Amino acid sequence: MGERVKLELDGEIAVATLNRPEKLNALDTKTRMELAEVIEGIEEVARVLIITGSGKAFAAGADINELLQRDAIKAFEATKLGTDLFSRIEELEIPVIAAVNGYTLGGGCELAMACDIRIASEKAKFGQPEINLAIIPGAGGTQRLPRLVGLGMAKKLVLTGEIIDAQTALRIGLVEEVVEHERLMERAKEVAAKIIEKSPLAVKVAKKALNASINMPLKEGLRYEASLFALLFSSEDAKEGMRAFLEKRKPEFRGR
Ligand code: CAA
Repeated sequence: MGERVKLELDGEIAVATLNRPEKLNALDTKTRMELAEVIEGIEEVARVLIITGSGKAFAAGADINELLQRDAIKAFEATKLGTDLFSRIEELEIPVIAAVNGYTLGGGCELAMACDIRIASEKAKFGQPEINLAIIPGAGGTQRLPRLVGLGMAKKLVLTGEIIDAQTALRIGLVEEVVEHERLMERAKEVAAKIIEKSPLAVKVAKKALNASINMPLKEGLRYEASLFALLFSSEDAKEGMRAFLEKRKPEFRGR
């Protein structure tokens, strides 16, 4: 595997670690390409993907050295690649957990927001500081942030470039949990293990239905949910889950 993103498998949990600590895991082209390689085919080898960073950052954003070289056309092409990569992560059939270990700024925060669940170390810090560079977030920051924290709070963060701590991120709904720094990976793996106990089919379908809630009007979303709900009744896992409940035993799911 590459130098900028390390991939490890722990049973059915894949851990991708952004590994450019000397530059606070700034997401340069090479890092983004390696991350794209890592997620290609990840669904075949893992049931949950955890993304984290090495050193004191999750990721401190796009690489500002690269940004300075870009004209408008190159900036558009590059940010589209970043946006598409984050959308692919969001749309992976397996859940993705961001284990947020430190600075999570700009493109780093946008990457964390494309993950399904964010678990943060008490040392994590979040922000969309692009405004300080006289640019704006370009890989989902103005779109996913308001969906998570509400429009007013998103405007406050994007317009001021303010950096917030993990407890504030928890309070506003940017992360789902804050844990002691030393327990971060253990906790992310606990949450992953809890998901892995469930039927893989139901997990996949639940993620699709939940993602639809931000992309579809309510009426369409409700119809989509009803179709997916009904579809699961053709699975052996659903029968097994219901039987196991009634027989007071642990279900054995097979993913069909
Ligand atoms: N791009 C390139 N290099 C970066 C970087 C970035 N985003 N963030 C940090 N680095 C580099 C620093 O230049 C420094 O390199 P050198 O040792 O070679 O000088 C190294 O990483 C360590 O960083 P600092 O010395 O600055 O560390 P610090 O602890 O003093 O400060 C920090 C930490 C507050 C996070 C600070 O590094 C910082 O403000 N970084 C930039 C954050 C930022 O503006 N991110 C948004 C980028 S734009 C974007 O992401 C656009 C988008 O939406 C896609």
